[in-house]
Amino acid sequence: MDISSVMLLRMVVALVCASLAIAVAIPCPSQCICLSQAQVLCNTGGLIEIPVNKLPPTVEHLSLTKNNFPLIRSDAFNGLRYLKKLSLDGNNISVIKPFAFRGLPKLRELSIQHTPLTTVAQFAFAGLQNVTAILLGHNKIHKVEGYAFAGTSNVRLLMLNSNPLHKIETSAFSGLTVVEHLILPSGIKIIEPDAFSGLDSVGLIKLPYMDLTALRPHTFRGLSHVHVLQIQDSDLGAIQPAAFEGMTHVSSLKLLNNKIDSIQELKFMSESKVKSLKIQGNHLLETPLQGSIFLDGLEHLSVVENHFPCDCHIHSLLEGPLANGSSGEFASKNYCISPLHFNGRTISSINVHNIGRCNDEILRDNWDAPARSVTVYNSWIGRNIFTVAIMCLIR
Ligand SMILES: *[C@@H]1O[C@H](CO)[C@@H](O)[C@H](O)[C@H]1NC(C)=O
Ligand SMILES: *[C@@H]1O[C@H](CO)[C@@H](O)[C@H](O)[C@H]1NC(C)=O
Ligand SMILES: *[C@@H]1O[C@H](CO)[C@@H](O)[C@H](O)[C@H]1NC(C)=O
Repeated sequence: MDISSVMLLRMVVALVCASLAIAVAIPCPSQCICLSQAQVLCNTGGLIEIPVNKLPPTVEHLSLTKNNFPLIRSDAFNGLRYLKKLSLDGNNISVIKPFAFRGLPKLRELSIQHTPLTTVAQFAFAGLQNVTAILLGHNKIHKVEGYAFAGTSNVRLLMLNSNPLHKIETSAFSGLTVVEHLILPSGIKIIEPDAFSGLDSVGLIKLPYMDLTALRPHTFRGLSHVHVLQIQDSDLGAIQPAAFEGMTHVSSLKLLNNKIDSIQELKFMSESKVKSLKIQGNHLLETPLQGSIFLDGLEHLSVVENHFPCDCHIHSLLEGPLANGSSGEFASKNYCISPLHFNGRTISSINVHNIGRCNDEILRDNWDAPARSVTVYNSWIGRNIFTVAIMCLIR
């Protein structure tokens, strides 16, 4: 062999060794593409198991979209200590076992969307200390069990949009603190008492397009430090006594464009530290009875563009806490929903002095008042196509 052949041979050997070394350093499952030791794509690979032992342990971004995992076991990703971003979108996942994502201290973003997942089970996301975003949109989730997010304290964004979730169970979001946005899907029918218990330091909780029969006692108990709690475009049914009792430090509560059958009680004590209450664009089928509203400790109150029955209770409404001493302003900014000939007119445009006071306003008879309101409502709904149409839209 001449010198140049020896050199060539050495180069070839060196190259082979180097590539072998790389191959050894980056194990890569055959269905995946390992772009680097940190980034692995296993998309559309037909995987039925998560190949956790074959992945480079250094992986930071792992995408496993459009495979065929039917379930995610407990500790399914254990060992991937550097994982920051994980996508499981488009898989046939129907079950996530408790502690499925345990052992991923650096995970920041987890996306499980477009799957047939029906339930977020207890402790499914438990222990994801450092996750900032959990994206669960476009699944078939109809149940978030209590403590699903236990120990997941740093989530900033939790998306549950586009899921057939009809019920929010007690303590469903327990363990979440410092959430910036909690976005719930439309169509919620039941919110159990203490549903938001344990949620602390939240930017925005948005509850849109619900179809409730009632906002039940203690719905928001245990919720604290919320910047904005916004309940909008929903059929709230009856706001029952103590619905908002037990929540604290809610800077702003907004009830926007809802249909409300009745306000049995709406009570804010100064301990609850609700700063601002905005009631706008709602349709109330019954006027809140005298004494049913207590607004203690509010710094700002705005009640505008709502529709109230202009019946014998109108006097106590104008004299009551919702008007806060400015009945003229209140009457010019709110409307009559009934009787028919007053519908859609501002309260100030009608002569309220011609409406008699209710007999029950001095000596209130507990069954007489609701009975009267039901009659008003029935005759009103029979004839008032316009408002019925609005209510249908809200529904
Ligand atoms: C998805 O999983 C379900 C049950 O886990 C199974 O019945 C179904 O055949 C799977 N579908 C696909 C496309 O793999
Ligand atoms: C969470 O992330 C921060 C910033 O990346 C890091 O300093 C911290 O150690 C992480 N926590 C855990 C438990 O690994
Ligand atoms: C109610 O009216 C009083 C007097 O005009 C005002 O000082 C107070 O701020 C108002 N309360 C709220 C909650 O807006």
